[in-house]
Amino acid sequence: MDFKTVSVIGLGYIGLPTAAVIASRGIKVVGVEINQHAVDTINAGKIHIVEPDLDIVVKSVVSTGFLRATTTVEKADAFMIAVPTPFKHGDDDSHSPDLSYIESAAKAIAPVIEAGNLVILESTSPVGATEKLAGWLKEARPDLTFPQDVGDQADIKVAHCPERVLPGYVLQELVSNDRVIGGVSPACSAAAVDLYKTFVRGECIVTNARTAEMAKLTENSFRDVNIAFANELSTICDQLRINVWELIKLANRHPRVNILSPGPGVGGHCIAVDPWFIVDSCPEHAKLIKQARLTNDAKPHYVVNQIKEAADQFKRPVIACLGLAFKADIDDLRESPAVQIVEDLAQAKVGEIIAVEPNISELPGSLSDANVTLASVAAALEVANVVVILVDHKEFKAADRSLFAKKVVIDTRGLL
Ligand SMILES: NC(=O)c1ccc[n+]([C@@H]2O[C@H](COP(=O)([O-])OP(=O)(O)OC[C@H]3O[C@@H](n4cnc5c(N)ncnc54)[C@H](O)[C@@H]3O)[C@@H](O)[C@H]2O)c1
Repeated sequence: MDFKTVSVIGLGYIGLPTAAVIASRGIKVVGVEINQHAVDTINAGKIHIVEPDLDIVVKSVVSTGFLRATTTVEKADAFMIAVPTPFKHGDDDSHSPDLSYIESAAKAIAPVIEAGNLVILESTSPVGATEKLAGWLKEARPDLTFPQDVGDQADIKVAHCPERVLPGYVLQELVSNDRVIGGVSPACSAAAVDLYKTFVRGECIVTNARTAEMAKLTENSFRDVNIAFANELSTICDQLRINVWELIKLANRHPRVNILSPGPGVGGHCIAVDPWFIVDSCPEHAKLIKQARLTNDAKPHYVVNQIKEAADQFKRPVIACLGLAFKADIDDLRESPAVQIVEDLAQAKVGEIIAVEPNISELPGSLSDANVTLASVAAALEVANVVVILVDHKEFKAADRSLFAKKVVIDTRGLL
């Protein structure tokens, strides 16, 4: 397929870099976004998220006219859907995938799609979601044919191509990572490969849509299970008075052992979310995957109790919490265990709480309303008697180690 215009639906952490990189290859990209502030920011050549070097690329492709953002869908040769796929918290503690954003995106593009178009689902999705997307399109456009009915002969091609970039390295990884491409039919896969080949230097590996969906979920579940092992070790070592960091270093000397690092929990909207999509689809069989989720979700509570114990030594404890993001050197606070820990501490009124997050300028409402203050690392360390390292941001790694002296330090990342 030849692509003159590509439409990217959802200009967030994934959609915006993808749109910018495709535009930088000289293809006209129209980004569709429901958030007017994001649209205005992008059209001004600026960005509304933190991602290294993305501002430079966006400025360049907007100024040359290859990228434009809008709130209304327009015709294009290909549509790439990069909208959120969170889970729904059920009353019974179930975690079923929320496909409403994909459904809205499908209903939005349906009126403008034409025979010959390619629709790609990039959002991380439960098995079967791409077929559902094709179904929503078909429902809205009975005048067109779709691959679930007529295979390679369909007017519209539909494929899933999960994104697996690492925040902080998105621009490099968008280009260098291998891509798993799962078409609803072989012709859908072939068309999707044509599109990705316009900007991907990695290999484009073809499979079917269900396997592509499961591949992404499997990658993140693998990480989650392995982190759960490290987190479980960290609490066991704490009870047995063993330094878990030293222990893991020693065990990893074994040629076939590679234990990951423990932390305050598992955050973000991928590893903490995607395993639930597998659990939801096969609850009877996904027992280890579910337990890993529960183990990782329990870790923030364990850290809160450690902090409470440490704070008990002081009459008026001042607690500096270093880091709120879900991982180092990004501004993304979604599903962050660090945020959960600070919220729980504030709610428990353990003492004065100072948050340090160099990547944001304003605290989220849940924290500012709870009287948590935002400060620089130097200011916080000057007044705190308990210091909790929740994220290994470069600013904390670079901080003068003598500032930690005479403090009670809870180092959930092994930074010190
Ligand atoms: N961020 C990552 O590192 C990452 C990595 C791999 C996969 N993913 C997956 O990619 C998908 C998108 O994630 P993200 O981090 O970019 O989310 P995001 O929240 O940063 O961006 C999604 C954007 O879509 C917009 N949106 C929602 N509904 C829309 C609609 N109907 N039309 C147009 N715009 C709409 C939102 O306003 C938002 O700006 C998710 O499925 C996520 O799991 C994310």
